[in-house]
Amino acid sequence: MKKLITALKRAAAAGAAALAIISLQPLSSAQAAPAPVVGGTRAAQGEFPFMVRLSMGCGGALYTQQIVLTAAHCVSGSGANTSITATAGVVDLQSTSGRVQVRSTRVLQAPGYNGTGKDWALIKLAQPINLPTLKIATTTQYNTGDFTVAGWGSAREGGAQQRYMLKATVPFISDATCKAYGGYYSGLVAGEEICAGFASGGVDTCQGDSGGPMFRKDNAGAYIQVGIVSWGDGCARANAPGVYSEVSTFASAIASAASTL
Ligand code: ARG
Repeated sequence: MKKLITALKRAAAAGAAALAIISLQPLSSAQAAPAPVVGGTRAAQGEFPFMVRLSMGCGGALYTQQIVLTAAHCVSGSGANTSITATAGVVDLQSTSGRVQVRSTRVLQAPGYNGTGKDWALIKLAQPINLPTLKIATTTQYNTGDFTVAGWGSAREGGAQQRYMLKATVPFISDATCKAYGGYYSGLVAGEEICAGFASGGVDTCQGDSGGPMFRKDNAGAYIQVGIVSWGDGCARANAPGVYSEVSTFASAIASAASTL
């Protein structure tokens, strides 16, 4: 089991900081045929209107109509940055109908990010995108149950990025259970990361899904973001769940950072 410590193409775009990330990526393998996001299915047009595809090869979600919440390992630092294009409004990245593309103006990488935990970042857009935003969890109460993940990342370990958004459902895994998988998982930052997936594998996020949201419904039936795709040992392997930034932990920091953009 190898997991390279790089975020692939994202590393190049993302620079040094990304190198420290624990994303895994494989190149090994022969694995059974895949389905989307690895074990997923296609999302319907408009189903998750807050989803964003970022040009460096990551996902994200509209935190506000002009700020995208993504992963720290998807960006190279903080400051003025007009190099990123955010695409939203479509499940098919090649469809021009309903597609909105806006450039970035600034990036804010989580303060103190060093490759372990704190894997969140904000991207300010040149113009607001007129689509629904995804609210973030501000307490731990929704850090349980079944979660939805979605993105345009690989549908199998080592596979290609996807044209159509894929989605899947993955269950919460406790910190204790997750750490007990050993290896990279021993280093789980319990207060900053949440694991999700099946012990048997088969369903997971994968390279290129990074930065995208993990979400569920709140008690009022509205979607609420509880995680940000961060890393895993390979993709969809048995006893190697996906690891997501624990959004509730960073909710205040995200809000104050957003207010400075
Ligand atoms: N770090 C990866 C990326 O840059 C995402 C890895 C998610 N892996 C997983 N097994 N859930 O796209």
